[in-house]
Amino acid sequence: MSALASNADEGREIARPTQSQREPEWLRERLHAWIKTRAGDDAAVTEVELPSANGMSSETLLVQAVIDGAPESLVVRVAPLESSDPVFPSYDLDGQFRLIGHVAETTDLPLPKLWWSEPDDGPLGAPFFVMSRVDGRIPPDVMPYTFGSWVTEASAEERAEMARRSVAVIAQVHAAPTDGAAVDQPLPGETALQAHIRRLRDFYTWASRDGEGAPLIERGFAWVQENLPAESEPVLCWGDARIGNMIYDEFTPAAVLDWEMAALGPRELDVAWMIFLHRFFQDLTEMAGMEGLTDFLTREQAAADYQAATGHELRDLDFYTLYAALIHAVVMYRIQTRAIHFGQAAAPDDPDDMIMHRKTLEAMLDGTYWESIK
Ligand SMILES: Nc1ncnc2c1ncn2[C@@H]1O[C@H](COP(=O)(O)OP(=O)(O)O)[C@@H](O)[C@H]1O
Ligand SMILES: [Mg+2]
Repeated sequence: MSALASNADEGREIARPTQSQREPEWLRERLHAWIKTRAGDDAAVTEVELPSANGMSSETLLVQAVIDGAPESLVVRVAPLESSDPVFPSYDLDGQFRLIGHVAETTDLPLPKLWWSEPDDGPLGAPFFVMSRVDGRIPPDVMPYTFGSWVTEASAEERAEMARRSVAVIAQVHAAPTDGAAVDQPLPGETALQAHIRRLRDFYTWASRDGEGAPLIERGFAWVQENLPAESEPVLCWGDARIGNMIYDEFTPAAVLDWEMAALGPRELDVAWMIFLHRFFQDLTEMAGMEGLTDFLTREQAAADYQAATGHELRDLDFYTLYAALIHAVVMYRIQTRAIHFGQAAAPDDPDDMIMHRKTLEAMLDGTYWESIK
């Protein structure tokens, strides 16, 4: 899921309950028995590891297996256990598996090879799917790549190339047919964007059911409703379209991961998310007194790169980048509420302080953000 740099370390512990059901040896034995039902009696699972990597909403298992006599490095994505009070109210791992399959069949995007989906709770206690492990490097969320990483160590030209190719991934996702894509459909009379906002609202209502909510988020929803732009034809959106959800071979995307936020929507949704998530990390970096990457994935350059790849001119990026900041605020509110519930964070006096980028969202709502950045 999204880049929860604020407390990804704490979140990771919460998201990884220590019950035996999520211990490597328990998982290995269960997967070993299960893989034989899919790949035959000589198949084996030799090792299961729980990595510390980007993301925190579903569980990612790194698995070594033997299939048809050959060693295979696999990744298993498992829905979180109910007992862990998951970040989202529901998880559709089989839907993600089918969506990745659809994108693999209809585009040239680099995607991990898919093996199997197991929608049944029986084998591991929760649904899961299996894909091949892809080698390469990922821009880190913790500490954010802007603080110092292979991305900051690259040359400006290499970064420009990386940004161009990353935006081109979004362009390719948008070229996939929407028919046959396993994503929620708008209700009758709703546009794709309105449906997207409704689902975000439902999620926020659910996330704030026991609390007072955050006034800044309410203000954001009101602004979004009052400023709805005219929409272009909806496309298949990746959803969590950010560089931290790609594995790179040097500066070229080698695998596009994390499809759980995929949805129908206007093209701007994905591009604005990629622009905003970079700004989110960049703002944190500047708050820490460092320079970060001011020249990377700028709004103008990303829009120009997208247009060069697709011929589509992006519109209303003020709206869509603010909407991205609102989505991120709602997810962050949920993460923080959950951390407070688990005693891992103190409730702030001002609930808006649960939103790490509150200043960014406030400035966007005041219409001063984009002129204020370097
Ligand atoms: N096919 C894969 N090959 C290699 N690593 C993977 C693969 N799928 C996931 N990962 C690792 O797991 C992490 C989390 O996966 P991701 O799909 O982004 O889910 P989330 O962010 O929701 O936890 C990635 O950052 C990456 O380190
Ligand atoms: Mg992720």
